[in-house]
Amino acid sequence: MSRIKKLFDLSGKVAIITGASKGIGESMARGMAEHGASVVVSSRKQEAVDAVATTFQEDGLEAIGVECHVAKEDHRINLVNKTLEKYGRIDILINNAGTNPYFGPIQNMPQEAYQKTMDINLNAPMELSKLCYPEMKKQGGGCVIHISSIEGLHATAYFAAYNLSKAGLVMLAQNQAAEWGPDNIRVNVICPGLVKTKLSKALWDNPNHEKALKGIPLRRMAMPDEMAGLAVFLASEASSYMTGSVLVNDGGILHAPIMTA
Ligand SMILES: NC(=O)c1ccc[n+]([C@@H]2O[C@H](COP(=O)([O-])OP(=O)(O)OC[C@H]3O[C@@H](n4cnc5c(N)ncnc54)[C@H](OP(=O)(O)O)[C@@H]3O)[C@@H](O)[C@H]2O)c1
Repeated sequence: MSRIKKLFDLSGKVAIITGASKGIGESMARGMAEHGASVVVSSRKQEAVDAVATTFQEDGLEAIGVECHVAKEDHRINLVNKTLEKYGRIDILINNAGTNPYFGPIQNMPQEAYQKTMDINLNAPMELSKLCYPEMKKQGGGCVIHISSIEGLHATAYFAAYNLSKAGLVMLAQNQAAEWGPDNIRVNVICPGLVKTKLSKALWDNPNHEKALKGIPLRRMAMPDEMAGLAVFLASEASSYMTGSVLVNDGGILHAPIMTA
């Protein structure tokens, strides 16, 4: 393989992707597998992750499915243990599973909605990274990617705990990058804009959707596969000098007020 192309090769690497039964996580898992990694596809439903792993295997890719509700400690431990049992190492962790159970003002947000959002979107990525860290350190390096959102980078009325949790992920990555850099463990963040998935259905399946697209310089939402390339880049040697970075993939939304003025 030619020199620079080889930098994107993930052969021999083992990748765990949470929330990978559909949407962005499934695309990123496929991206890892198509670049040579052995992939652990994970979500709350064993049948759903088995189905994804089977499609990958039918395409000649290496994958297994492991059920893991990321907010449950025993599930997180089992995910790491099953990965080590099957593949013996962990090189890449993509903390992708996320939720947004409440849309409305912070003033009215139920405590349970806040807690659920923080548990799944922020606490779980931190705890799962902590479980993978010793393995990565032992191996001489690794790579963690947190899936945040542009909602973690700017204020939006009514996104409440979702924005808080996604902003927290950015600082989590930057602190981990500072702490784990000496162990050759890189930690970076991807901030998608509007991507057509089940999670974002309320945003694209409504009468105001066409009007909302006018606020996006590229005038459309992304499809999940458009997020996969960045994950492959951040997981590979092509980004070997990047850690603590926040990569925005949003069709230009964050710059829209300037570009459309
Ligand atoms: N779509 C967007 O516009 C957008 C924009 C910015 C950021 N994001 C972020 O991108 C990530 C993926 O979102 P998506 O849009 O691809 O969502 P999605 O299509 O709804 O997929 C969510 C995935 O997470 C799994 N999941 C949900 N709760 C889980 C939990 N507690 N533990 C483990 N897995 C869980 C789901 O599978 P099961 O139901 O099988 O568990 C599914 O595989 C999220 O972190 C989201 O915040 C999305």
